[in-house]
Amino acid sequence: MEESLSKKITPETDGVVIENGHTTKNSDKSVYIESYGCQMNFSDSEVVASILAKEGYETTSKMDTADLILVNTCSIREKAELTVRKRLEKFNAVKKINPNMKVGVLGCMAERLKHKFLEEEKIVDMVVGPDAYKDLPNLLNEVDEGRDAVNVILSKEETYGDIAPIRIDSNGVSAFVSITRGCDNMCTFCVVPFTRGRERSRDPKSILQEINDLAERGFKEVTLLGQNVDSYLWYGGGLKKDFSKATPLQQKTAVDFSQLLAMAAEAHPRMRFRFSTSNPQDMTVDVLHTMAKYPNICNYIHLPVQSGSDRILKKMNRLHTRQEYFDLIDNIRKIIPDCAISQDMIAGFPTETEEDHQDTLSLMDYVKYDFGFMFAYSERPGTLAERKMEDDVTADVKKRRLNEIIAKQQEHSRYRTEAFLGKTVCVLIEKASKRSDDFWSGRTTQNTVVVFPKEDYKVGDYVDVKIEDCTSATLLGTAVGSSESI
Ligand code: SAH
Ligand code: F3S
Repeated sequence: MEESLSKKITPETDGVVIENGHTTKNSDKSVYIESYGCQMNFSDSEVVASILAKEGYETTSKMDTADLILVNTCSIREKAELTVRKRLEKFNAVKKINPNMKVGVLGCMAERLKHKFLEEEKIVDMVVGPDAYKDLPNLLNEVDEGRDAVNVILSKEETYGDIAPIRIDSNGVSAFVSITRGCDNMCTFCVVPFTRGRERSRDPKSILQEINDLAERGFKEVTLLGQNVDSYLWYGGGLKKDFSKATPLQQKTAVDFSQLLAMAAEAHPRMRFRFSTSNPQDMTVDVLHTMAKYPNICNYIHLPVQSGSDRILKKMNRLHTRQEYFDLIDNIRKIIPDCAISQDMIAGFPTETEEDHQDTLSLMDYVKYDFGFMFAYSERPGTLAERKMEDDVTADVKKRRLNEIIAKQQEHSRYRTEAFLGKTVCVLIEKASKRSDDFWSGRTTQNTVVVFPKEDYKVGDYVDVKIEDCTSATLLGTAVGSSESI
């Protein structure tokens, strides 16, 4: 088939548009995609949108008239799964009005429940695990022919490095770029290693290419995504756990996370870089030095700890102690003095005592996190904790401990935001503020949200803002001029 850079429809390619050398069918169908859970799911949905665009599907925000509804699901806690089940009821109601509409379930719930989904939820036509999105065109054919369409095969290689994601609901300023898939850490509470498979890293060339494309389109901020970014290691492809079997040359020329960060930061000095998530046991001092060296790598680390008790950390298979975590925090404070740090915490892990809980609170007092994401322990089928430990902390105790953790975090968040009062900070404008259309909302390098009057600034500008007021989550101020910093 002839390829051309111009858009044209020829008799041979009836209904097929050739665009930038890729064949893309004319958009005659629409897909409505809803995503739940981690940022990786949102990023995966953009890969899915790109795969489907080649099949003639245009993404739509109108669920009622869509030809295909896809829900990208999360299994991390029971509640996340219940939310998706509720949404399926809604899709069922829509299907009654629009009977030709098809419904596909993607992501972690698809992987966890596999064929069972088709039996349990009559509305579901298609079940596709996180590594099987390239099979979507075949699966859609299966659906059309009335057959069960399920692909939940996990891959050792798939990173979707060759797919240019189509940005969904983009503000045109910030974007996610995935760098690793899967996770090998096997925290005993976590379902991710089962739903997303073994850890593998994406070719740095394709990562940098995606970042270049974003930069050319005016994007100003990229968040590098992985379940465990510090574990990034490219040695030519394959699983992280097989690195020891790589050739000496592959091992010598391997690219680790701090090198990847440096390459990205150097290539685009006026673009901000963030990353998520860091596991304390894998974060190296090299990464901290790289962050300190490049002003465009944001001074913010999401560093989940889950618990402050050594005994619980061990039962969770988190491979560091409380003291080692403090040592890492001390290093961060020394190497990047104004670095913000956030946490994930789990209240009420099996056997957690009042003393363990107090250890969590005292760890929080030491770190004084800028913000956090806090959860009551939710037992997940198939995890080691579910198989080997009794979920023995009562719901009431979990809730009370969680509330104490949240209250402490609010106190610390306020302490952190108050420290900005009177200071001038550089803000990248992202969107209009939810509170008022007359105000912009953006973030500082520390990831703190700043709201200020719009004046003549526009989305994507770096602006210096003098901070005059704050809540525990937001800084309020006035712009004092365009910013030279980042
Ligand atoms: N490394 C991942 C972590 C994914 S899970 C990342 O990229 O974010 C996000 C958070 O959910 C975890 O850090 C943990 O605090 C919480 N979580 C995971 N499993 C959980 C469970 N079974 N119950 C309650 N919270 C859980
Ligand atoms: Fe889950 Fe632990 Fe990996 S929380 S995603 S198994 S680092």
